[in-house]
Amino acid sequence: MEKIKETLNYLNAKIGNFEPEIAIILGSGLSVFCDNLEGISIKYEDIPNFPITNVAGHKGELLYCNIEGKNCAIMQGRFHFYEGNSMQDCTFAIKVLKMAGIKTLIITNAAGGINKSFNIGDIILIKDHINFMGTNPLIGKNDNKLGERFPDMSNVYNINLRNTAKKCANELNINIKEGVYIATTGPSYETAAEIKAFSILGADVVGMSSVPEAIVSNYLKINTLAFSIVTNYATGISNNKLSHEEVLETGKKAGLKLSSLIKKIISKIN
Ligand code: HPA
Repeated sequence: MEKIKETLNYLNAKIGNFEPEIAIILGSGLSVFCDNLEGISIKYEDIPNFPITNVAGHKGELLYCNIEGKNCAIMQGRFHFYEGNSMQDCTFAIKVLKMAGIKTLIITNAAGGINKSFNIGDIILIKDHINFMGTNPLIGKNDNKLGERFPDMSNVYNINLRNTAKKCANELNINIKEGVYIATTGPSYETAAEIKAFSILGADVVGMSSVPEAIVSNYLKINTLAFSIVTNYATGISNNKLSHEEVLETGKKAGLKLSSLIKKIISKIN
């Protein structure tokens, strides 16, 4: 709690009385979301208690700006478990943003498509997740001021927000699909046998992030919405080998569509 307050004090000194209502986490290749947005940008490396992040395609800045009349905080890049951060460090920023006043969190990521009806570039509305990371960001002594010891997980991806997302996609003529996201720790991609197993478990897309953030967001009673961009077929679904460059390239193209969808959703949040 002391650390959260220290970080918040630093940020408040930079942003004055700007109070964010909505936060957005941008995944690989989604930096297009911020083209044409102006506001106050703060580098993660300058923010006290923020962990280190240096994955290609992630900018590492927090941008405070106004979108569709709403005060937003945009995380341009996230903290991954595979970078060596603890689960607590991966989700620290969400606690800070909660204390800053956010009510809604929109999470985005790049993911591999497991469901054979998904194509590269598809936008997937995450309806549920499978935590396959073998750990949980809420492990440790619980601070009852933040949330419950054993949080319910039956509506992590808020049903009202998901319905809003579907309506907005319809209005914009953007085709979105729904699916279950499974998270592994990474950083190695999956084997074909793992993907086959994940498919049997009920997963539609696979990635290395987002689940810790969603668990903490739900714990903090923030309304949460999440999207994946299918940047590649998961291992064994097609014959291609996986590369991070391919993930970034596809992320960028579908990122434009997802950006306009998220802006529309923001306009409808009250
Ligand atoms: N697997 C895991 N994480 C990913 C993938 C994948 O195929 N694509 C993008 N992130």
